Amino acid sequence: MTDSPTGTRLTSTDVAPERQLASLADDVSAGLLAPPRWLSPKYFYDDHGSALFEAICATPEYYPSRSEAGLLAAHGREIIEAAAPEHMLELGSGSSRKTRHLLDACDALNRPCRYWPFDVSAQMMLDAGAQLVADYDWLSVHALIGDYTGGLANVPLPDQGRRLIVFLGGTLGNFEPADALAMLEQIAALMRDDDRLLLGVDRVKDTATLEAAYDDAEGVTADFNRNVLRVLNRELDGDFPVQDYSHRAVFDRDMARIEMRLAADHAHRVTLAALDTTIDIEAGEEIVTEFSHKFTPDTLAALLETAGLTIDRHFEAEGGAYSLVLAGKANP
Ligand code: SAH
Ligand code: TRP
Repeated sequence: MTDSPTGTRLTSTDVAPERQLASLADDVSAGLLAPPRWLSPKYFYDDHGSALFEAICATPEYYPSRSEAGLLAAHGREIIEAAAPEHMLELGSGSSRKTRHLLDACDALNRPCRYWPFDVSAQMMLDAGAQLVADYDWLSVHALIGDYTGGLANVPLPDQGRRLIVFLGGTLGNFEPADALAMLEQIAALMRDDDRLLLGVDRVKDTATLEAAYDDAEGVTADFNRNVLRVLNRELDGDFPVQDYSHRAVFDRDMARIEMRLAADHAHRVTLAALDTTIDIEAGEEIVTEFSHKFTPDTLAALLETAGLTIDRHFEAEGGAYSLVLAGKANP
């Protein structure tokens, strides 16, 4: 790990994975060369992808971000009072925009805490961190740069002090079920008896609302989805015809998940020069790019329980559209 001061109250640290993670080349070799084709979602978030995700959150169709922001604004003080954190660790913090509701609550309650955002998108996190230390004069921000799927044991949190681990945006739903459980177990392993997890997840609901949230009329989500092909073209010296792929978002009720796909408009051959390989894609062939799992109160409680966590408080958006839960270790 390296420590680089980027201001008196903003520092950044690289977090090394506990084990070697698959490279982009490995992931492409494993998923893309033969049907059914799939790609790991973490490659969405280059600088351009992070900016596009922010734009998705501003579309009228993408209700999850507004629902979650509303819950944080309404219950932020209750959450901070209950968790009384000295350290706030946020996984996949992005722009940290919604986290401001929690920092506002810390401010109002005169409960300063230290903020540890953890994200693979370093530039977005550092820009956000600079703005946060400017806006909150008591706040110190310790930006953690890395891939949290590599584990949390190398996160340099001090031993002392209560922790609130924040995981928002329904990002847990982007993991396959087994990986979501593994992620929660990693989080639980980091928590002591007094620590809390604040988790935001989207809920199962009618198909039209869900599919619209992942296929906005303006096409921002479509552009975000296609951006992953731009990343491949850049990183692997590829020639995917990015604009010749159509965005699809389909809700699978049995699996309780939105599936994001890219469908080829016509047959073509793709060359990935860095991998010294070509791929023949047929007209209409699809690449699965992302899942977004949706929960019911029961499936959420069961998943947390399996990970060794119990729900202290459950805040729901109107009509059960979205859930924010505060959880602690089971049987502390
Ligand atoms: N929490 C924010 C952003 C959600 S988007 C919100 O709710 O609006 C998901 C965020 O997680 C992005 O900022 C992305 O860069 C980050 N991310 C995705 N996969 C990651 C990984 N494996 N390791 C670290 N950060 C990751
Ligand atoms: N965590 C977000 C979600 O599942 C990520 C997301 C939103 C997303 N829109 C997307 C991922 C479109 C891929 C494509 O809601």
